[in-house]
Amino acid sequence: MTSNIVWHEGKVSYQDRCKNLGQEGLVIWFTGLFASGKSTIAVELEKELIKLGKAVYRLDGDNVRHGLNYDLGFSKEDRDENIRRIAEVAALFKDAGLIVLVSFISPYKNIRDFAREKAGGKHNFIEVYVKADIDTCAKRDPKGLYQKDKKGEIDNFTGISAPYEEPKNPELVIDTTKLSVKESIKQILNLIIKSLSLHC
Ligand SMILES: Nc1ncnc2c1ncn2[C@@H]1O[C@H](COP(=O)(O)OP(=O)(O)OP(=O)(O)O)[C@@H](O)[C@H]1O
Ligand SMILES: [Mg+2]
Repeated sequence: MTSNIVWHEGKVSYQDRCKNLGQEGLVIWFTGLFASGKSTIAVELEKELIKLGKAVYRLDGDNVRHGLNYDLGFSKEDRDENIRRIAEVAALFKDAGLIVLVSFISPYKNIRDFAREKAGGKHNFIEVYVKADIDTCAKRDPKGLYQKDKKGEIDNFTGISAPYEEPKNPELVIDTTKLSVKESIKQILNLIIKSLSLHC
C-alpha cells in the first residue's frame, strides 16, 4: 500500500448503524466438508432470522465463486484468497450491522482465525462446525462431486485429496448425521440470541 492511501474517517459509527437497525452485527461462520449441510442450514436459518425481523445476509461459497471470486481455483493459495476476501466482505457487512451467514468449506484453521479476527473477535463471530463423516457426505453428494472425484475429475478434493483441519474450539458443533435441519437451527438461534443479548 502506498503512503497516498489514507483512511477517510466517517461521521457515522458502528453504534449509530446498530441503533438504526435495532441489532448488533454478527458473523456466523459455517465450516465443514462438502455436503455436510452448511448451505442447507444457512438457507433455512436466514429464513428464520428474517421472520424474526433481523437484517441478515447470506454469503455462500458457490454463489460467491460466480462473481467476486470467479477468478480463483482450488489450490491452497486460491482457497486462502477465496476465504480472505470473504472474511473481509463478512467483516464489512457485520460493520454495517447485519447478521452475516457465511457457508464455505474453509478447510484451513489459520484463515478461519483470520476471519474471526476481522469480524472483531469472539463477541462478533460464531464458528459453527457442520460435522458429518465423509461416508455420509459421499452418500448425500447433492452436486455429484464424489462421483466426479471417483472418475479423477476433481483436484484437491477436501477430506479426500486435500486436508480439512477440524475446528478445535468452535462455538458450536452441529452433527448433521444426528440432528435434523430444524434441530440444528434451533441450536444456532439459541446461541445467536445469547450472543446478541450479551453485547447489545
Ligand atoms: N441434518 C441435515 N442437515 C443438513 N443437510 C442435510 C441433513 N440431512 C441431509 N442433508 C442433506 O445433505 C445435503 C447437504 O448439502 P449442502 O449443499 O447443504 O452441503 P454444503 O455443506 O453446503 O456443501 P458444499 O461445501 O459442497 O457447498 C443436502 O442434500 C441436504 O438435504
Ligand atoms: Mg454449500
